[in-house]
Amino acid sequence: METLKKMPSLKEVFKNDFEIGAAVNPVTLKTSEGLLTKHFSSLTSENHMKPEALQPKENGFTFSQADELVAFAKKHNMKVRGHNLVWHNQTPDWFFKDQKGVPVSRDQLLDRLKTHITTVVSRYKKDIYCWDVVNEAIADEGPELLRRSKWLEYVGDDFIEKAFEFAHDADPNALLFYNDYNETHPVKREKIYKLVKSLLDKGVPIHGVGLQGHWNLESPSLDEIREAIERYASLGLSLHITELDVSCFTWEDKRTELERPTPEMMEAQTKKYEQLFQLFKEYAGAITSVTFWGVADDYTWLNDFPVKGRKNWPFLFDANHQPKEAFWKVIDINSNKFSNE
Ligand code: GLA
Repeated sequence: METLKKMPSLKEVFKNDFEIGAAVNPVTLKTSEGLLTKHFSSLTSENHMKPEALQPKENGFTFSQADELVAFAKKHNMKVRGHNLVWHNQTPDWFFKDQKGVPVSRDQLLDRLKTHITTVVSRYKKDIYCWDVVNEAIADEGPELLRRSKWLEYVGDDFIEKAFEFAHDADPNALLFYNDYNETHPVKREKIYKLVKSLLDKGVPIHGVGLQGHWNLESPSLDEIREAIERYASLGLSLHITELDVSCFTWEDKRTELERPTPEMMEAQTKKYEQLFQLFKEYAGAITSVTFWGVADDYTWLNDFPVKGRKNWPFLFDANHQPKEAFWKVIDINSNKFSNE
């Protein structure tokens, strides 16, 4: 078994390139403490900073789990990426109704949005250096730019710029991001570009684009990822890879019987991770953070998505928290730069 001490540290190896982040929850914060403190310089809350977690009832803010994450990060000198302030999912229904169940007006909803964002962003002013302000607002398909949601329906398309303005007013130093998935798909990529460009043209305080990076062994291709990075980088904003995982299954592959990954899967994953980090490094002038949507293969949301209960192994560390071949290939990209403590 590799001892943690002898192993090179991801965050050290890439310290001149970008932050290395992980999404965590109250369980993995404990079960993965060793890996987190050794390899990661940034944390994201998997669920506990979303609207339903922070304000389950109107004005009934619940900060304890988010506070724990922030305290862990502080203790270990890590940064925190806030995720997220406005989303069509995991947002309680009370936002959109009054006490009698009648849909709220635009002004009421904007008031509620402002209260939520101001309270949350102000509380973590010194602790959270950047926020995913708006998550997944773009329509995947069809001619529409924006996805149908209650935010769009009740407020109108300026809910996005309002959210950025409220966040900026609450913490003028925070870096504010628009974050989305299928971000490399050419049609959606152009929609995201169009939205962000229009925000910039209007002078909205937006500082970055988050590429979620929920990818798999085959798709998207390296060329598609490169094109997306170049396109967003041409806006002059920072790019963060915000939710990286490399699933062992393509979207069409619905097999459920595998108890462990096949050697072919691990070989393909090693290659993909090596190519990805070479690419990220090439664009390190624009990419300032790479966050995995988890830590090690003992826990991933992909165990339940898109096939419930199916195992998946998407990270650089295996289920026993040992480095996979992919880890060593990624380290090798910067091999002359790590200090072997
Ligand atoms: C999206 C969200 C994340 C998370 C993942 C799935 O990408 O941005 O917060 O919910 O889905 O776990």
